[in-house]
Parts: sequence; structure tokens; C-alpha cells
Amino acid sequence: MRKTKNMDGVRKTFDKWAQNGRAELMEVEHGKNVLKFLKTISFEKPFTFLDVGCGNGWVVRKIAKEKNCKKAIGIDKSKKMIIQSQKKMESKKEQFFHTDIESMKYKGKFNYIFSMESLYYADSIEIALEKIYQLLKPGGKFFCGTDFYTDNKATSRWAGIMKIQMHLHSKKEWKKFFKNAGFRVETKHIKDLQNKKKWKREHGTLFITGTKPAK
Ligand SMILES: C[S@@+](CC[C@H](N)C(=O)[O-])C[C@H]1O[C@@H](n2cnc3c(N)ncnc32)[C@H](O)[C@@H]1O
Repeated sequence: MRKTKNMDGVRKTFDKWAQNGRAELMEVEHGKNVLKFLKTISFEKPFTFLDVGCGNGWVVRKIAKEKNCKKAIGIDKSKKMIIQSQKKMESKKEQFFHTDIESMKYKGKFNYIFSMESLYYADSIEIALEKIYQLLKPGGKFFCGTDFYTDNKATSRWAGIMKIQMHLHSKKEWKKFFKNAGFRVETKHIKDLQNKKKWKREHGTLFITGTKPAK
């Protein structure tokens, strides 16, 4: 696909964030709700895992510690995020690659794919979801976390602040994207009731889980 100004804007912004400490700030900011959500998943069988838009790789490092995890891969379209992730690697189960999801080349398929605050930066959510669906095994699941959604009014202004491509959608629209890609879909709001930010207490992170039907 021909690179547009918007796509480069996303990459450049996160290259900067990888170097100015904001990758670690995201780890802290997103950490509580993501860890709360991941606790609801039972990783009781051997599994492989992919994090799309992994930032500094913190979720990959966390998941690789699960005893049934065979391989945990992180990809990011920011090369500098991948360099940070590789510096922070803690086990041989972890792998990090510099690629966007749309053009990722990978022969295998995953049991679980995860993404936190990343999918709405994709040039096309539909194309990204189509690719994620292809990369999952039958019965596999895609966990997609977003703080930026129409129903959560406090975060809707982020696009103006970031000045890069960010696709704002409602919970209903997200569910439709997942259904159109072939997924069975469930949603969950993970709230942080102690947080000083009102939206974190009242709306929280929206997790959309897509299950690829078993054959
Ligand atoms: C807001 S950050 C979130 C990082 C990480 N998930 C976290 O929670 O700390 C979004 C990340 O997604 C990456 N990204 C955006 N669009 C992407 C795409 N199409 N494919 C792969 N990575 C992408 C960005 O480069 C950035 O590092």
C-alpha cells in the first residue's frame, strides 16, 4: 500500500514517544485496566500470543511469564518502540518485529491476539481486522482494548490533541466491525473506581473480544 502522510504521522509520533518516556507512561496508564482484564482470561492450555502495536513490549513480557505460553510476539509500526522492546526482553519466548499489522508476514497462526490503544490508528480498521482474523487459529480470540470511543466523551477530544489519524467509533460500531470481519463478539468495560479521572471511574477501558468460530 502506498504510504500516506497520515500513516507516517502515526509512526513518527510513536518513534518520539519511544524516546521521551511516554512508552513507559503508557505502560503505567494502561497497566491497571489491562492487567485486570488479562486476569479474566484463563491461559490453561499451551498457547501462542501476538500483541499488535506493542509499544515498549510490556504486555508481551507479562504474557511470556505464563507457564503455558509457548511464544509471545510483539509488533509495532514504530521502529523505535521495537528497539525499546528488544532492549527490555526477559525471556526467549519473546520476539519483537518492526511491522504494521496490515503488511505483517507470518506463516503460523495464533491462539490469542491482543491490542491496547492501537487499532484505531490503523489506516483502515476493517483491513487490520481482516488480517487479525486470518492470523488466528479457529477458536482463537482477539482482545482489543480502547479508551478512545464515542461513548466515552472525555477521550473524544484526543484526536485534536494528537493531530494524527485516529478513528473514533462507538461501542456499537466497534461490534459491527468485528461481526463484519467474521468474529463472534463480546464487550466488557474495565473501570478503575479509585482513579482521579472521572472517565476511568465511569466508562473505563472498552474491551472488545472477537472469537473466530471453530471449524
Ligand atoms: C497508544 S500506543 C499503545 C502502545 C501499547 N499497546 C501500550 O498500551 O503501551 C499505540 C501503538 O500502536 C502502534 N501502531 C499504530 N498503528 C499500528 C499498526 N497499524 N500496526 C502496528 N502497530 C501500530 C504505534 O506505533 C504505537 O506504538
